[in-house]
Amino acid sequence: MNTYDVSSLTQLAQVAQQFAEQIKPGDLIFLNGDLGMGKTTFTQFLLKAAGISDHIKSPTYTLFEQYQSPAFSFVHMDLYRLSDPEELYFLGIEDLLNQENTTLIEWPEKGAGVLPDPDWQLTFQSNKNNRTLTITSN
Ligand SMILES: Nc1ncnc2c1ncn2[C@@H]1O[C@H](COP(=O)(O)OP(=O)(O)OP(=O)(O)O)[C@@H](O)[C@H]1O
Ligand SMILES: [Mg+2]
Repeated sequence: MNTYDVSSLTQLAQVAQQFAEQIKPGDLIFLNGDLGMGKTTFTQFLLKAAGISDHIKSPTYTLFEQYQSPAFSFVHMDLYRLSDPEELYFLGIEDLLNQENTTLIEWPEKGAGVLPDPDWQLTFQSNKNNRTLTITSN
């Protein structure tokens, strides 16, 4: 487990770049943390570091977006608006997780009971003075 100071966007981008070098195709990554803590911003930096030049938008309404780089196919999910974990089956979660996609999930607690255990847990937090990101590898 490692905790990084990510009080600035520059620091967040640096951690995302380091993390991009550690992940493997097929990894499942949970992005934990409250509204506005930087989960989408981190994903944008990570995908950019992994060579994706597309605009990476927040999948709040679409629930998921897919991106292809030479080395990775990414799925970025935001389950904030999911009302029942079972809805994941209608989104085709089993295929998405089986296809060697590297999958990043914001609000994974909304999929509890359906989502498998992740390979990585990233936890975004803030207090009055700084922001931190804790990375745990399972
Ligand atoms: N480490 C950081 N340092 C400075 N600003 C940050 C940092 N992380 C995020 N921000 C800013 O906070 C705002 C919200 O970030 P972001 O959309 O990534 O949050 P989120 O965790 O995805 O929220 P949500 O749960 O609503 O999807 C953005 O404007 C972003 O630029
Ligand atoms: Mg977000």
